[in-house]
Amino acid sequence: MNSKYKNILVTGGAGFIGANFVRYVVAEHEDVFVTVLDKLTYAGNEANLVGLPADRVKLVVGDIADAVLVDELVKNSDAIIHYAAESHNDNSLKNPAPFIQTNLIGTFTLLEAARKYNVRFHHVSTDEVYGDLPLRENLPGHGEGEGEKFTPVTRYNPSSPYSSTKAGSDLLVRAWVRSFGLQATISNTSNNYGPYQHIEKFIPRQITNILSGIKPKLYGAGKNVRDWIHTYDHATGVWAILENGKIGDTYLLGANGEQDNLTVLHMILADMGHSEDDFDFVQDRAGHDLRYAIDATKTREELGWEPKYTDFSKGLKDTIEWYTENESWWKAEKDEVEAKYAKNNQ
Ligand code: NAD
Ligand code: DAU
Repeated sequence: MNSKYKNILVTGGAGFIGANFVRYVVAEHEDVFVTVLDKLTYAGNEANLVGLPADRVKLVVGDIADAVLVDELVKNSDAIIHYAAESHNDNSLKNPAPFIQTNLIGTFTLLEAARKYNVRFHHVSTDEVYGDLPLRENLPGHGEGEGEKFTPVTRYNPSSPYSSTKAGSDLLVRAWVRSFGLQATISNTSNNYGPYQHIEKFIPRQITNILSGIKPKLYGAGKNVRDWIHTYDHATGVWAILENGKIGDTYLLGANGEQDNLTVLHMILADMGHSEDDFDFVQDRAGHDLRYAIDATKTREELGWEPKYTDFSKGLKDTIEWYTENESWWKAEKDEVEAKYAKNNQ
C-alpha cells in the first residue's frame, strides 16, 4: 500500500455515505489514518463507526462551521474529504435554515482552512445540482433509447433548498480553485443505497416500514426515476478521484442504475414476501424532480473506475437483509421519523 494521502480528514464521516467511505478506507488502505469531523446531528450516528480500530480512526464531534476547530484539524491533515451536509430534500422544504448554515457556511469554513494550509480538498456533491431530466415516456419516440444524461458540463439548475445549497457549495469550491489555486476536485453522484442509510430516505424507509407492520409510502404516482449506486462504489470512486483526479475538475459517479420508484418498491415488497399493491400512495413532494441519470464515461475512462455492484436487485437484497438483521440500529427512531412524515400526509 502506498496511499498518496496518509492523514485524511473526513467530514460527515458518521453519516451514511461518510461512514461507508471510512469503512472502505480502513479495509482497503492500510497506511491511512482517518480523522472524522462530525456534529452528530439527527443523521449522524457513532454506531456507524463501531468496530473500527482506534489506531486507524478518530472521531471528533464538532461543527464544520467552527473555524477554530476546523483550523486545528486541517493544519494536521494532508487531505480533506468533505461529506458533511444536511442531506434530505423533504427536510429542506420544511426548514431550509440548517442547509444554508452547514452546506454553504460550513463548506466556506473548510475551504478557508484548506487554502491557508494548502491542503488537498475533495468535495462530495450530488447530481441534483443539475436539476431533473424529462421522464423517457414524455420524450418524442416514447422512451426509445436511453434519453439524456447528466455530464460534467451540464448546466446547473437545482430545484430544492437542499440541491441549491449543494450547487452553491460546488461553485464556492470552483471559485477557490480558480481564484486561490486550491488543490480541489468535485464529485457529483447519484442516489446511494446500502447499509447505515438513515430511515428517512426512500429505500430504508420502505424496508423498515414493512418490518414494523406499516405500509410503504409512495410519493405521487411513483414514476420518478433515480439512478441508484451502491455506497461501496461511491467510496471507490471518491478514492480514485482523490488520488488521480485532475485538480479543478468535476467527476460524475453513477452505475447505470436507473429505476422508477414504483419498480423499486415492487422489488422490495416481493423480496419481503408482500403483494405488489401492499402500499399507500401519499402526498407528492413539492417540486419533485422527475428523473436523474448519470453519464460517468469521463470518470471510467480517465481514472479506470468501475462500479462493482452492477446488479441492483442483488444490492437491494443485501440492503434488505442488513436492515432486517440490524433492527437495534434503527428501531428507536422509527416512530419519530414516521410521525414527522405523517404531519405532511406523507
Ligand atoms: P447523511 O445525512 O446521512 O450524513 C450527513 C452527516 O453530516 C451526518 O453524520 C451529520 O451528523 C453530519 N453533519 C451535518 N451537519 C454537520 C455540521 N455542521 N458539521 C459537522 N457534521 C455535520 O448524508 P449522506 O446521505 O451520507 O450524504 C453525505 C454527502 O454526500 C452529502 O454531502 C450529500 O450531499 C452527498 N450525496 C448524497 C447522496 C445520497 O444519495 N445520499 C448522493 C450524492 C451525494
Ligand atoms: O441524487 C442524489 C440525492 O439522492 C442526494 O443528493 C440526496 O442527499 C439523497 O437524499 C437523495 O435524494 P432523493 O430526494 O432522490 O432521495 P429520497 O430517498 O428522499 O427519495 C428518493 C425518491 O423516492 C424520490 O423520488 C422521492 C421518493 N420517495 C421518498 C420517500 C422518503 C417516496 O416515494 N416515498 C418516500 O417515503
